[in-house]
Parts: sequence; C-alpha cells; structure tokens
Amino acid sequence: MAEVARLDLQDRVAFITGAGRGQGRSHAVTLAEAGAAIVAVDVCAPIPTVPYALATEEDLAETARLVEKAGGRCLTRVADVRHRHELVAAVDEAMATFGRLDVVVANAGVAQGLPESETATIDEIWADYVAINLTGTWNTLQATRSAVVDGGRGGSIIIISSTSGLKGMSRGDVRSDAYTTTKHGLVGLMRAYANDLGPAGVRVNTIHPTAVATPMVDNPAMRAWVEVNVKRVAGGFSDAMHRGRVDAQDISDAVLWLASDRSRSVTGVTLPVDAGFVIA
Ligand SMILES: NC(=O)c1ccc[n+]([C@@H]2O[C@H](COP(=O)([O-])OP(=O)(O)OC[C@H]3O[C@@H](n4cnc5c(N)ncnc54)[C@H](O)[C@@H]3O)[C@@H](O)[C@H]2O)c1
Repeated sequence: MAEVARLDLQDRVAFITGAGRGQGRSHAVTLAEAGAAIVAVDVCAPIPTVPYALATEEDLAETARLVEKAGGRCLTRVADVRHRHELVAAVDEAMATFGRLDVVVANAGVAQGLPESETATIDEIWADYVAINLTGTWNTLQATRSAVVDGGRGGSIIIISSTSGLKGMSRGDVRSDAYTTTKHGLVGLMRAYANDLGPAGVRVNTIHPTAVATPMVDNPAMRAWVEVNVKRVAGGFSDAMHRGRVDAQDISDAVLWLASDRSRSVTGVTLPVDAGFVIA
C-alpha cells in the first residue's frame, strides 16, 4: 500500500510575511498547530500611500504569543518586503535559529481604499503598490529560495493572490488598478517559479481568497471604496454560496494543505478559496 502523505508539519519551518495580524497571523498559528516552527515577518509601520493602518510591533508580538500558545517556536522580525536585504537578514536569522526552511507563505500585501484626503500622486501610489504586492513577493521568493532548495527535502511556496488576480475588479482608480494588476502578476511569478523549482521538489502555488474578514477590509477607507464601487465592479460582489466574506481560517486551511505532503503532487495551481466568487 502507498505511504499515506502527512498533514502534519513536524520538523518543518515556515516563513510567513505579513504575519503581524489578519490572515498571516492565522496562517502562523495554523501551521504551528500542525507542528511547524514559524518565522513571522511584518513591516509593523504605516505606509503613507496606503490609506489604512498596517500592523504594529505589538501585533507581531501577539502573533508570536499565539504561536507559542499553540505549541510552536516563533522567530519574529520587522522587515519591509520592498527591501530585499531586510528579508535576507530575516532568512539568515531563521537559518541560524532553526537550521532550515521548508514552507514560504508570501502573504504581505496592501489593498485599495479611499483616503479622506489625498496627498500622494497617482504615480507614487502605483509605484508603492507594485513594490509591495508584486516586487515584494518576488523579493520574498528571491530571499528564501536557496534556503528551501538547499534543505534537500523539497518544499512548498504559497503565494497569496486574490480573486482580483483572476478577475478584472478595477474601474480606474489607481489603487484598485494596481491591486488587480499586481495580484494577476503573482500568477505569472508563481508559474515561473513552479517550473524553475519543480525539479528540486519545491512546489509553488497561488491562493485566491474572496473578501476575508481582516483589518484590510474592516477600515473606513475600504468601506468608502466599496460604497463608491460596489455597482461598478464586474459581476458585483456576489459569490455562488452567498457568503459575502469568508474567515481567515478558511484560507489557513488551504495554506495548511498546500504546505503539507497531502498536496505533494500539486504545483502551478491557482486555487480560489472564494465560495464561488469567480464563477458567480
Ligand atoms: N482581506 C481580504 O479581503 C483579502 C482578499 C483577497 C486577498 N487578500 C490578500 O491576503 C493577504 C493578507 O491580507 P489580510 O487580509 O490579512 O490583510 P491585513 O492588512 O490584515 O494584513 C496584511 C499584513 O501585511 C503587512 N504588510 C503590508 N505591507 C507590508 C510590507 N511592505 N512589508 C511587510 N509586511 C507588510 C501588514 O502590516 C499586515 O500585517 C494580502 O496579500 C491580501 O492582498 C486579502
């Protein structure tokens, strides 16, 4: 009989960006519950072109506390995915602490929203969103790939895109243009890396969540954007199951499956976790 692949992550180490709160924190706790050691990275500071607050150092410390409560070891590091050297420093520290890397969850990202007043130019906003969502993910893969490959046991890289990476969701404001564009771009990045790292046994996939109840959507700037755009976005905001929003845990369960050996033959896949949003 074939060996049954394991869902548990004993002796695995997972590197997660944007782990200070929201989905990233949920992924950290879920992978720790399955036995993984966690490297939790976040910018922990506001970014002026992003019209809502980002995580704080206290938030990142709370992620570590929850990981440890779940029985896992946690290394935290403040790093901005726009700056690859900060990610490389985090990987170096992770290797010194845990000795290997098996799972990467490239989760950090910023979304659209309408600020109360606008001080940045559209070019500044576009450049920042591309730097965070697209280049930041490429930086994460660049910083981690050698450590995963050199571990010699294969691995799993999970890129958090969006339903906006599968469906045209913007109608011309710069932040949602950039969000839709960068989240589509992550699919190309995923396919390139899935081919590149496949021979080393490293799998690369994207997850495409529908709206998830996190601070990214629960803020005045996003509420203002939805108010203005709900009738203008392709297909409206409906999903086949009439759920509206899903929970971070719904995405974490998909992350856990992709991180584990239960998905050992799955690579190059765009996985919606969206209650049927993209087909509605
Ligand atoms: N919430 C949703 O509805 C939704 C839907 C689809 C996809 N997503 C994607 O899921 C991922 C997680 O989002 P979330 O819902 O948890 O939102 P969130 O805003 O709660 O969490 C995002 C985290 O990323 C961090 N971050 C932002 N810029 C960073 C940078 N430059 N460097 C390092 N960290 C940075 C933030 O501080 C924050 O902790 C994002 O990529 C997002 O685009 C979210």
